[in-house]
Amino acid sequence: MSIIIKKPTAIQPSEITPKSVYLNRRKFMQQTVAASLLLSLDAALPAWANRSPEPRWSDLKKSPFSTDETVNSHKDITTYNNFYEFGSGKKDPHKNATEFDPQPWSIVVEGECEKKGTYDLEEFIKSSVLEERIYRLRCVEGWSMVIPWVGFSLADMLKKFEPNSKAKYVEFTTLYDKSRMPGQKTRLLHWPYVEGLRIDEAMNELPIMAVGLYGDVLPNQNGAPIRLVVPWKYGFKSIKSIVKIRFTETQPQTTWNRTAPKEYGFYSNVNPDVDHPRWSQKKERVIGRPFWEPKRDTELFNGYAEQVAHLYKGMDLKKYF
Ligand code: MTE
Repeated sequence: MSIIIKKPTAIQPSEITPKSVYLNRRKFMQQTVAASLLLSLDAALPAWANRSPEPRWSDLKKSPFSTDETVNSHKDITTYNNFYEFGSGKKDPHKNATEFDPQPWSIVVEGECEKKGTYDLEEFIKSSVLEERIYRLRCVEGWSMVIPWVGFSLADMLKKFEPNSKAKYVEFTTLYDKSRMPGQKTRLLHWPYVEGLRIDEAMNELPIMAVGLYGDVLPNQNGAPIRLVVPWKYGFKSIKSIVKIRFTETQPQTTWNRTAPKEYGFYSNVNPDVDHPRWSQKKERVIGRPFWEPKRDTELFNGYAEQVAHLYKGMDLKKYF
């Protein structure tokens, strides 16, 4: 093998790359390398790092009720979901809810209150005090994750409707529209999804109506455009894509209670001492943590006993599970 080296004098001026072109080319190469590095890193980065550079809200008020535990990545929160209206697999909502358009949106308010009516969500958001609340969502299935919600106090919202003295419970209903929520064509659950709270639970300072997470609007798979978050109860109480709020005198018939009454009670408080009939509730797998890490101990009322234990004074929590 032989290599021919041109003598310096043999190089023609036309063969020399002008400095500006050379510098541009170098810049281009640097940018290309940086871009491909970013692309290869993409899988390792939390998905929020790739989100729109301008989230809808910034400088949100921080809540004293937030947990200071490490939050899950945007990717964990938006790709591991339960939203049966878009399928029963954990990845289904992320895949199947992309076409769902949650705008415009209104909420009908009915029942035992003075201010019944249909309320436009955007107007409602404008008149509410939004804050960031970081709550651990403990799913009844035995896993949990920590989510930085954007929302406003449920109690503040409900007070605007002026519930009367007969309002002992509040019932929430998800949108029922088979053409927009394909899972509703199946018989997986009793549709529409319904949840409820006792009025004193609803008026506690902890529950929020979430309209966003990670500073941005709520992704469809997480319950756009508005969902409930009740941090001391199992995740299924936190109903998504709410279109109706009804104040009632009697305890609402909730979807999971109707579907499997022996397994899912009305209260559904997080409680390590009350097993699900088919599994223990003592521990939980933290989504996003390596599989070899030990499970986390589940806390009574998901860590909010100080704020809510008084609501259940004198009640047998094994009976009212
Ligand atoms: N709301 C509706 N309308 N439909 C559902 O299937 N799943 C519930 C709850 N809200 C559900 C719902 C369950 S079981 C859980 S654990 C949480 O939503 C999950 O919320 P996430 O997907 O935002 O983590």
